[in-house]
Amino acid sequence: MHIAWNFNLYPVLVRDSASKVFIPTRGQLDEKSLTSFDNQTVIVTGAGYGIGRGIATHFAKKGASVAIFDVDEITSKETEKIVVDAGGKARAYRTDVSDYDNVSESVSRVRKELGPVDILVNNAGIRYVRKVLEIPNEEWNRTIAINLTGMFYMVKAVVPMMQEKGRGKIVNIASVSGMVGQNGRAAYGASKGGIIQFTRSLAVELGPEINVNAVAPGFVPGTGMMKEIDKDSRSSSWMVANTPAKRPGTPEDVAAAVAFLSSDEASFIAGVTLPVDGGFTASKYLVEGKF
Ligand SMILES: NC(=O)c1ccc[n+]([C@@H]2O[C@H](COP(=O)([O-])OP(=O)(O)OC[C@H]3O[C@@H](n4cnc5c(N)ncnc54)[C@H](O)[C@@H]3O)[C@@H](O)[C@H]2O)c1
Repeated sequence: MHIAWNFNLYPVLVRDSASKVFIPTRGQLDEKSLTSFDNQTVIVTGAGYGIGRGIATHFAKKGASVAIFDVDEITSKETEKIVVDAGGKARAYRTDVSDYDNVSESVSRVRKELGPVDILVNNAGIRYVRKVLEIPNEEWNRTIAINLTGMFYMVKAVVPMMQEKGRGKIVNIASVSGMVGQNGRAAYGASKGGIIQFTRSLAVELGPEINVNAVAPGFVPGTGMMKEIDKDSRSSSWMVANTPAKRPGTPEDVAAAVAFLSSDEASFIAGVTLPVDGGFTASKYLVEGKF
C-alpha cells in the first residue's frame, strides 16, 4: 500500500495486491461533503433559540432543508423567518420532545413535507441550577424527560426512516456538565451524562449505516438557559478565566462541530462526545471554584 494524491490534493490510500487494507472510495473523499448539505433534510430540536437556532441556520446556509422542532411556537417561527429571509429552506414544527405522540406526528409531517430525514440533531434541553436536596421531584423528572427521554423519543421516531435509506447521522448535544461534577447541576449533569452513554450505545447498535456522536458545549452565553448566569458578571468572568481559549463559546462554534460530525469526513468517528469548550474540561482549574 502507498499513498497517492488525487487531483483535489486529497491523499488516497491505494491497496497493493497483497494488502487487505480498506480503501476509501471517491465519494468518501468528496470535497463537496466538507461544505455542502444540499438536498439533505435535517431536524434540529430546540432550534427556536440559542445554540439550536445557530445549528439550524448553519445547516440552512450549507443547503439543507431544516425542520425546526421546538415547544416554543413563536421563537421557532422566528428561526424559520431568519432562514427563509436569507434564501434558505426551513419549516417550524411545534413539538414537545417529551411527548412521544407529538414527536411521532411531527416526524411524519417532515417526511411528507421535506422528505426523509438525513440528519437528526438532538439539541432541545432545559436546565435548573439547584442543590441536590432542594430539587423538587417534579423538576428532576422534567429535566430527565426533556433532556434524555426526549432524545430517545426522537431517535425512536426518526431512525426507522434512516434505516430504510440505509444511512443517517445523529448528533446529540450533551454538555461539559455531563463530563465533570458541578455545583447545582445534579439533575442537569445526570441527564447530560446519560446522553453521553446513550450516544455510545446508539453508535454500537445503529452503525455502520447510522453514524452517532455527541458534542459537549462549554460556556455559551446569550442563550435562553444562560439568562440568569448572563446577569451575574462574576460567573461569566469565572467561566472565561477558566477557559484556556479565554473567550466564551458561540452557537456558531457548536454548529461548526455538529456540521463536521454530520459530514462524510467524520464517518470513522462514532460514539464520541466532542467537547466544544475552549479547553474548559482540560483545565486544571476545574477542581477549584464553584461553578
Ligand atoms: N448555553 C450553554 O452554555 C450550553 C452549554 C452546554 C450545553 N448546552 C446545551 O445546548 C442545548 C441548547 O441550549 P441553549 O443554551 O441554546 O438554551 P436555549 O434555552 O436558548 O435553547 C433551548 C431550546 O430548547 C427548547 N425546548 C425546551 N424544552 C423543549 C421541549 N420539551 N421540546 C422541544 N423544545 C424544547 C426551548 O424552547 C429553546 O428554544 C441544550 O441541550 C443545552 O443543555 C448549552
